[in-house]
This record gives sequence, C-alpha cells and structure tokens, in this order.
Amino acid sequence: MLEWSKLPDTAAVREGVLEVWVQLQEYVQARPRQACVGLGVAAGGLLLWKFGPSLRHRYFAWINCKFSDIKSEDYEAFKRTVFASLKDMTSQDPKLQEEKTLRILEIGAGVGTNFNMYPDHTRLIVADPNPYFEKYFIKNKSKFPNIKTETIIVAKGEDIDMVKSSSVDVVVTTLVLCSVTDVAKVVSQVKRVLVPGGKYIFVEHVYDWARKGQAIRKFLQNILTYTGLWPFVFDGCHLNRNPLPVIEAVGFSDVSVEQQYAPMPAAFMLVAAPHLKGVATK
Ligand SMILES: C[S@@+](CC[C@H](N)C(=O)[O-])C[C@H]1O[C@@H](n2cnc3c(N)ncnc32)[C@H](O)[C@@H]1O
Repeated sequence: MLEWSKLPDTAAVREGVLEVWVQLQEYVQARPRQACVGLGVAAGGLLLWKFGPSLRHRYFAWINCKFSDIKSEDYEAFKRTVFASLKDMTSQDPKLQEEKTLRILEIGAGVGTNFNMYPDHTRLIVADPNPYFEKYFIKNKSKFPNIKTETIIVAKGEDIDMVKSSSVDVVVTTLVLCSVTDVAKVVSQVKRVLVPGGKYIFVEHVYDWARKGQAIRKFLQNILTYTGLWPFVFDGCHLNRNPLPVIEAVGFSDVSVEQQYAPMPAAFMLVAAPHLKGVATK
C-alpha cells in the first residue's frame, strides 16, 4: 500500500533531479568521448529492446527468401519422397472430394518453399508467426495459380486454436520444429486439426543420432545452440533437438519415419544435415 506521508516532498525531488542533471553535464564536459559512447550504447540498447524482434524477423524473412532462391535439386528430391504420399490421398470433406482436392495446413510455411510439393488444386491454410514472410509468400504463390490459399494465419503453431478440430486432411512442417517454443503443444495441435486418417508430413533437421563418428558435428550442434549464436542468427532455430519421441508419444495410429543425412546445399549447413522425415497418420 502506498503511504503518501512517506513520499519525499516535491521540492526535494526537484532538487535531486537538478543535482543529477548538473553532475551529468559536468561528466559530459569532462569526458565527452565516453559520454558519447555511453549514450550510443544506451540508445542502441533501447532500439534493440524496442525493435529487436521485429528487425530479426524482417532479416530472417529476407534471408529465407534468398535461401529459397538457391533451390538444391538434391534436397528437393530428398523431401519429395515423403510428399509422395499425398498422391493417393482423397479428402474427407465431401465437397473437396468432388473437386478432387485436399485441404492442407502448413505450419511455419515461411516464404512458401513447399508449393512445388503440393498437388494441383490444393486448398492451403498457412500459419506462421513472422508477419514479414507474407509478402514473399504471396509473391511465390503467384507462380502456383492452381493452389488456393484459404487462410493465412499469423500465429505460432502452438496457438492455432482458430483452426477447427478434425478439419484438415494433411498437416505439413518442414524445418519448423527446431524453432518452435513448445514442440509437444505444436504436435498436439497437429493431431487435433487432422481428420481421422489424416496425415502429418514432416521433414525436420535434428540432433545427430550417431553414437560414434559424428563427435565434431554433435559438438558444433551443442555449442552453437547453447551459446545462443545459431538461434540468434536463425530466429530461434535449435540444432540439438529431436522431436521424434514427442511425435511418437502424441497418439498417432501410425508413425512411419526415417533418419537420414540430408544433402545440404551449403557446407556450413552440414551441422543441420541429420534429418528426420516421415508421415504420421491420425
Ligand atoms: C527455417 S524456416 C522454414 C520455412 C519453411 N517451412 C521451409 O521449409 O523453408 C522456420 C519457419 O518456422 C517459423 N516458426 C518459428 N517459430 C514458429 C512457431 N512457434 N510456430 C510456427 N512456425 C514457427 C518461422 O517463422 C519460419 O517461417
């Protein structure tokens, strides 16, 4: 409880403020260079505190767009094997069945690198918390007129309660579970929104599973993640996660999964070569 009687009187406050102001002026006159550096650091800190997340999000959307321009045929072929299961699927929605289409929810769609994996006439719902991806996504989407975007949701995969339960035929995540805040929450959202028999397709980079022979990679995966360097540069990405136990525990009727070293498009990305790719059926 605030006790007014204990507050200093306004005259004393004014006197204190003046005293600090005079001392500051003296400091600036005596050490102008240090004062400038201090002011610069304080202003930089303030700007980072205020605009840091949005700057990082902008930068990450831009860099992802640049990466997606350098499409690696080998990596595309690596991914395509799991997307092949879409070919024989039919929607559980009678209207979509008639139209021979599927409703797909892609979580963490980014710039839309997976358009070329989807069958023609796909009805797409996307969810991504980074709003700066949208303009790249829309630009990319214009190259795929046969895919219809039903909704773009700017939200984390953990928070997609607005997507109705048992309403989508397929959920996709590629290179997303490494970045989410709560893997278990995202995977249970995936299971919730899928229709019975619906499929969860995932391609994720993970912590190296090898017991021997990959010590350097494992060391780098740990050190780059624990120091915060990799998550800082790649917007929260963790190199030393393995979401498989979570996917297996959430209660899918079938989980078919492969662990493979993916053909990475650049040498520095070899730290992220260990991949998990699979299809889980509700
Ligand atoms: C490395 S990018 C991958 C983008 C795209 N899926 C691909 O394969 O190129 C990671 C994506 O996950 C998104 N992301 C990060 N945290 C997320 C979360 N909690 N829920 C959903 N998406 C998230 C990022 O905004 C970004 O679009």
